[in-house]
Amino acid sequence: MENEKLIQMLNRDIADEHAAIIRYLVHSYLEGEDTPMGAGLLSRAREEMWHMHWLGMIIGKLGGEPDLNPAPYPYDPTSRKTIFKSYVAYEEKLIPHYMKEAELMDDPHIRRVLEREAWESQIHARKFQRTHDKLTPEQADTLPGEDNELSDALVEKLQNIVEVKYTQMLQALRNAWVFQTNDTMGWQIIDFSFTKMKQLAHMAEEVAENGMEPRLKKGNIITGAAVGAALKNALESVHKTRDLHMGLKNDPEAQQHAGLIINLDLSLQQEDYETAEIEDWLK
Ligand SMILES: [Fe+2]
Ligand SMILES: [Fe+2]
Repeated sequence: MENEKLIQMLNRDIADEHAAIIRYLVHSYLEGEDTPMGAGLLSRAREEMWHMHWLGMIIGKLGGEPDLNPAPYPYDPTSRKTIFKSYVAYEEKLIPHYMKEAELMDDPHIRRVLEREAWESQIHARKFQRTHDKLTPEQADTLPGEDNELSDALVEKLQNIVEVKYTQMLQALRNAWVFQTNDTMGWQIIDFSFTKMKQLAHMAEEVAENGMEPRLKKGNIITGAAVGAALKNALESVHKTRDLHMGLKNDPEAQQHAGLIINLDLSLQQEDYETAEIEDWLK
């Protein structure tokens, strides 16, 4: 298969994996990560993150630009029963899809990755089927989500940070994939993307605990080929989210939520660390 076609194919796959991450993550947060169902969904979301990462690494290595727009994730939102049924269908569809793609591959690594995406999708289908079958009648007929208790203004602040941090995290992933052969830069950048996922989760969980879907909406991704410019942009972006975190920390309503403040303090310190590291790299 010619390079350009292969990159195109893998970019469609990455969009499907991205869609699955968002769907399982949001659902997990709505259930609550500390519930058995939420923990299971979070575990699936993490596996989808590997899937996305393997594809991103291959695309970057092939000299391609990873597509960071998630595909739609079709599901029937009527009740937990219909939702999990949709998840089973989604995963089952991916098994022959990836197997067919794997057969077309000459490169043994790419073939193995695609085969693994196939059999891990099969495991996902089985696990979701099991969750579906074990739903209590009450769970089966209802939907996750709790009562709103935060003010609209505070939720909007949280949602804004979710959106900016999500984009920043995707940008870090993209840079790590694209700059993977640039000395140890890829490793260092991907390390920051992990921290960003956690920071994103802190805010997204607060929103979901308030019964709303976190706004995982991608903003503008910068696709330059120069690592220096990418680091300068990363630095600017961290300053921006640091200001947003600081603004939230000074919000009197946010201050009523001790858990949120602890997470904000952690994120702020992590952002200072990241700033110092990047400034050193730029020297
Ligand atoms: Fe997957
Ligand atoms: Fe999956």
